[in-house]
Amino acid sequence: MEGRSLGGGSKAASLPRMAALRTGTGISRRHLSTFCPGPLRYNREFWAGTAKSMSNLIVLGAQWGDEGKGKIVDLFSEKFHAVARYQGGHNAGHTVYIGERKFVLKLIPSGVLRAGVQAVIGNGVVIDPKALLEEIHGLEAMGVDVKPQLKISNRAHVIFPFHRTLEKISEGREGRIAIGTTSRGIGPCYEDKIARRGIRVADLVDSDFEQLYRALAEDKQLIADAFKLTDRVDFKEILEQYKQYAEEIRPLVCDTQHLLNGLIREGKSVLFEGAQGTMLDIDFGTYPFVTSSSAAAGGACTGTGVPPNRIDGIVGVSKAYITRVGAGPFPSEDLTELGEEIRRRGNEFGSVTGRPRRCGWFDVPLLRYTAEVNGFDSLIITKLDVLDELKEIPVCVAYEVDGKVVYEMPASTRRMEVIKPVFERLPGWRTKTQGIAQMDKLPKAAQSYLKFLEERTGVEIGSVSNGPERNETMIIPGSKLEKLLE
Ligand code: IMP
Repeated sequence: MEGRSLGGGSKAASLPRMAALRTGTGISRRHLSTFCPGPLRYNREFWAGTAKSMSNLIVLGAQWGDEGKGKIVDLFSEKFHAVARYQGGHNAGHTVYIGERKFVLKLIPSGVLRAGVQAVIGNGVVIDPKALLEEIHGLEAMGVDVKPQLKISNRAHVIFPFHRTLEKISEGREGRIAIGTTSRGIGPCYEDKIARRGIRVADLVDSDFEQLYRALAEDKQLIADAFKLTDRVDFKEILEQYKQYAEEIRPLVCDTQHLLNGLIREGKSVLFEGAQGTMLDIDFGTYPFVTSSSAAAGGACTGTGVPPNRIDGIVGVSKAYITRVGAGPFPSEDLTELGEEIRRRGNEFGSVTGRPRRCGWFDVPLLRYTAEVNGFDSLIITKLDVLDELKEIPVCVAYEVDGKVVYEMPASTRRMEVIKPVFERLPGWRTKTQGIAQMDKLPKAAQSYLKFLEERTGVEIGSVSNGPERNETMIIPGSKLEKLLE
């Protein structure tokens, strides 16, 4: 196998373009006015005009998040017309290095760093307007003119400060097993969504916001009274703040399902960006130690309104080892000095909370499980270079549960917690791999390691990333991934 490098020459290639303060998104004004939020022109030929030329791709985490999706999405986004986030909120943290500059994106899709790419926050996302505006202003201060490129779904739900307060009570309550959440109010906001009392962006920017807010606040007031929190939640002040946020957000709001489907009908391509990772998915993750949204590939459709038959490929991103933030089962966790070393070398500290990430070894049963749930066409292995110094590398190839060797991910919390990992040890390469741009130039032991992962997981490795920079990523020629990116 050999590889070629993506991302091109100059490290800071797109920054001058950013600084030039973009005026548009590469998408015609006619298009935007037609689909966002213009009149619905539904008829029998609705899809007839679909000019299929490029792939619509989902890129998502194959482990517990923090796999390096931000860099991959940023890299791939140059080949797409739009990049859409489909779940989660500002609990996510996607780090992108462009030359000397570090961008940490929480709510806004990484695609916004590319001139002309339409960035979309889909209906499956929960939005804290304060966090969103801070992120927009922060990016603007770094020369990224976000607003002309960003659209926000009118169906996304809104996070309020009392969601964070409720989360703190819930996490801190005696007798409750703490999930170790990011404390951003994500779970309580999704609770309101599912309980059908949430407030959506469309309501926030509408004239009856105050009325809806009062109904929700009344509900929360009861809880605040019960927990004697009345002094900590100022409902009136929140209302006034949110009215101000609404003014600034309003021009960015539209029916993003209509926008995205319209783009696809025109033959334009969409990259769907997952946050968090499959093992934090509300249904398929290590429940209850999960986030409250559908992080798996299926969430890309429900979280944007783009139908499943418009998706052409699904790509999983996995570290060459594995990490997890927060509490919950972690079969291949390494609690020895070696785990510490991986944390140091991989700089494994949460980009949102700064918490040290728990570190462990590549877990084959877990990856096979997430590959099945998501239908991965291809895998991208990141941070290979972090393993450069190791003499040997353990890989978890099976689980021992209640004395039996199993290859599947158990569903019950108890069984997940008692898993004993079965390891095979592969020789390390003890050579610097950072920045090597071709698979056949990697040390033989590194090539064997990757081959081993490919064979055991049953999913092709279509790309390997071995450094934080955009151009420190190789795409394997002839891979499915290469075809999907054509
Ligand atoms: P929540 O999403 O804040 O409710 O947190 C639920 C769990 O998901 C906790 O274990 C968090 O540490 C984890 N989590 C949430 N977002 C991320 C992320 O972007 N990367 C890694 N873990 C995350």
